[in-house]
Amino acid sequence: MNQNEMKQLAAREAVKYVKDDAVLGVGTGSTVNFFIDQLAAVRDRIRGAVSSSEASTRRLKELGIPVFDLNDITGFDIYVDGADEINPDKEMIKGGGAALTREKIVAAVASTFICIVDETKTVDVLGRFPLPVEVIPMAREHVARQLAALGGRPVWRQDVVTDNGNHIIDVHDLKITRPLELEEQISMIAGVVTVGIFARRKADVLIVGAGDGVRIS
Ligand code: 5RP
Repeated sequence: MNQNEMKQLAAREAVKYVKDDAVLGVGTGSTVNFFIDQLAAVRDRIRGAVSSSEASTRRLKELGIPVFDLNDITGFDIYVDGADEINPDKEMIKGGGAALTREKIVAAVASTFICIVDETKTVDVLGRFPLPVEVIPMAREHVARQLAALGGRPVWRQDVVTDNGNHIIDVHDLKITRPLELEEQISMIAGVVTVGIFARRKADVLIVGAGDGVRIS
């Protein structure tokens, strides 16, 4: 089974969590795209979605699924999103697709975060995947120096401007043994909009598409 087939397996499983009349939080990325495609089949029994990126909004609308402004929604049941890495405590690195800020916001409003990944994303210790940090453009070099002082190797993702008009720094060579502590530390740096560690708001349910089937924890 290839990686896309494993992603599809996880996405199909996540659709089983969709309740009638639900508003769904929808993440961003190739795994979530499979989930959005699956939503077409249940479109008539859901109210709509809150989206974490312009890309997911476009895809949802193309399928005729209404997309709500988060400010008009007081709360909803499930948020479905992928991850770049997830550890056994269900803490994650996210932001490979540069949508981390809106993802963190939508996840904060949801009661249950369902993370869907293929088995290559599960790790014991976070940090092999370079940690994305969204920054205000004028603060980029300042933030990069602070990240280097923390032991990382910051690299500006030069070809990307986020949906919020900001820049992304990818921090290489970090071994993240205390995700919550590092999330708080990096969030405090002036100019940081969002760090791609999701430990304070980690996943509640993990669905892994693997070569031998689906694993749920
Ligand atoms: C986007 C993300 C994605 O969830 C993450 O990058 C995983 O993407 P994919 O499903 O394409 O592997 O955080 O900002």
